[in-house]
Amino acid sequence: MDNPSKIIEGGVEYWLGKFDGKSVLYDFDKILIYLNAKGKLLFGKQFRIYDEDTVIIRKLCYYFIKDKENCLKDDIDPDKGILLSGPVGCGKTSLMKLLRHIVPMQRPYEMIPCRNVTFSFNHLGFKTVEEYGNTKFYCFDDLGVEPSGRFYGKDLNVMGEVLLSRYELYLQTKHKIKTHATTNLNAEELEDRYGHRVRSRMRELFNLIAFDKRAGDKRK
Ligand SMILES: Nc1ncnc2c1ncn2[C@@H]1O[C@H](COP(=O)(O)OP(=O)(O)OP(=O)(O)O)[C@@H](O)[C@H]1O
Ligand SMILES: [Mg+2]
Repeated sequence: MDNPSKIIEGGVEYWLGKFDGKSVLYDFDKILIYLNAKGKLLFGKQFRIYDEDTVIIRKLCYYFIKDKENCLKDDIDPDKGILLSGPVGCGKTSLMKLLRHIVPMQRPYEMIPCRNVTFSFNHLGFKTVEEYGNTKFYCFDDLGVEPSGRFYGKDLNVMGEVLLSRYELYLQTKHKIKTHATTNLNAEELEDRYGHRVRSRMRELFNLIAFDKRAGDKRK
């Protein structure tokens, strides 16, 4: 049988690990080589893996390849989603767009800017909240800085409602659905924005992976 960790990109073959006929023994250095190449294809030739980001990238990789032992060490629950937090421009959105490519056989998640969720609510109302409360996998990008929603004179904390729906679904489906997010906010700021109820559920829905607050802005 073919090695399931084999990925072909632009005519080049990448193996992310060894295959013993049953399971893949992933090799983090090989994953980094692939991410470096795929990142350049997706975001341009200035993309590179920064040394100071490898701790975070390693955690994300263990999560996505479902490496149980290392997840346990990092206190990461493979059933939950990922909340990737960090300062402006440190590379959160890029990483969440990139990392899904190391596991092409897994169900993909869609990147949805939180602003778009609010804007959709302003046009369509509660239908939007229902729409994102489905069993698809999402990564809600830039959580916490979206404007609040308004429909026929009624204000609504749209992303708060969406997260409550996602949490209910997560419980009902025995943790089989995934919700990921990126954010600039810390725990306290998230609680200010969404309230204690949502914040408490977020802890169950997400594994928090946080960039250092001094991480640099890659936009420059
Ligand atoms: N590893 C990298 N190498 C080179 N450029 C990068 C890298 N990661 C991100 N960038 C570039 O830096 C900019 C910011 O990246 P990105 O949007 O992923 O950051 P972010 O953390 O999501 O920012 P924000 O908090 O504003 O949403 C983008 O232009 C992106 O292409
Ligand atoms: Mg972003």
